[in-house]
Amino acid sequence: MSDSRVPRLRRFLVCEPRHFAVQYAINPWMHPDTHVDVDLAQEQWRTLISAYESHGHRIDAVEPVPGLPDMVFAANSAVVVGGRVFGSLFHAPERRPESTHYDLWFKSAGYDVQRPLSVCEGEGDLVWTGRYVLAGTGFRTTREAHREVQEFFGHPVISLTLVDPHFYHLDTALFVLDDSAVGNNIVYYPEAFSAGSRAVLERLYPDAVLATRDDAMAFGLNSVSDGRHVFIAPQAEALAVRLDEHGYVPVPVDLSELHKAGGGIKCCTQEIRS
Ligand code: ARG
Repeated sequence: MSDSRVPRLRRFLVCEPRHFAVQYAINPWMHPDTHVDVDLAQEQWRTLISAYESHGHRIDAVEPVPGLPDMVFAANSAVVVGGRVFGSLFHAPERRPESTHYDLWFKSAGYDVQRPLSVCEGEGDLVWTGRYVLAGTGFRTTREAHREVQEFFGHPVISLTLVDPHFYHLDTALFVLDDSAVGNNIVYYPEAFSAGSRAVLERLYPDAVLATRDDAMAFGLNSVSDGRHVFIAPQAEALAVRLDEHGYVPVPVDLSELHKAGGGIKCCTQEIRS
């Protein structure tokens, strides 16, 4: 079964956690008195980058900026589909300046950036499945932004309501296993969603892999799949077993130091889809 899963090589934008810290609390995982070991955070992050590179994925990096401790969470900076970039507008004032730095990187790489008019936190809440954009709301990105994203890309945007503050971004509760037309599938933790949104996900993905609360609390839903390998938190043990049963190859990468800010593997990874 494993041999039927075919990886697609990706291009990822990342930002080293050189200035990583937990200085403010904008989600339930963050406690400003927590000690953060920046050297360990950097070491763990480099392990993620090496894992991507050793699986053939291309890495681009944005220069980290002092005073922006959450800038490591590159996924929040934009959503990129078909070479078109929809930028970010952060909910928290502390994170707002990040957008300028990411926009400058995109512009230097030859992309125009569409600026959102309403709060929009990039791939944190906007998940491209290969068919539609699944779009989270409830804590950060607004429904108004979902409409803007649909208008900009001309792809269907499906609004989903998040109800548990631990899973404040869609990418903490759901990830795409396979974005190809044939095997298109996702993994999610149902209780993170409102009843209506759960019903929508059941209709769209009757064969989805469902995760437990333990998997979700271990940042197991904040994973990155290339269609075969799933870069996943080692703490999400049960989910890794299920993925293996479904023919995927779990690649454990521990970002425990970054979990202190409420982020994991996917949060550190912005996919640039040409
Ligand atoms: N401390 C950051 C925040 O609360 C973490 C962001 C995590 N990013 C993500 N894509 N879920 O904004």
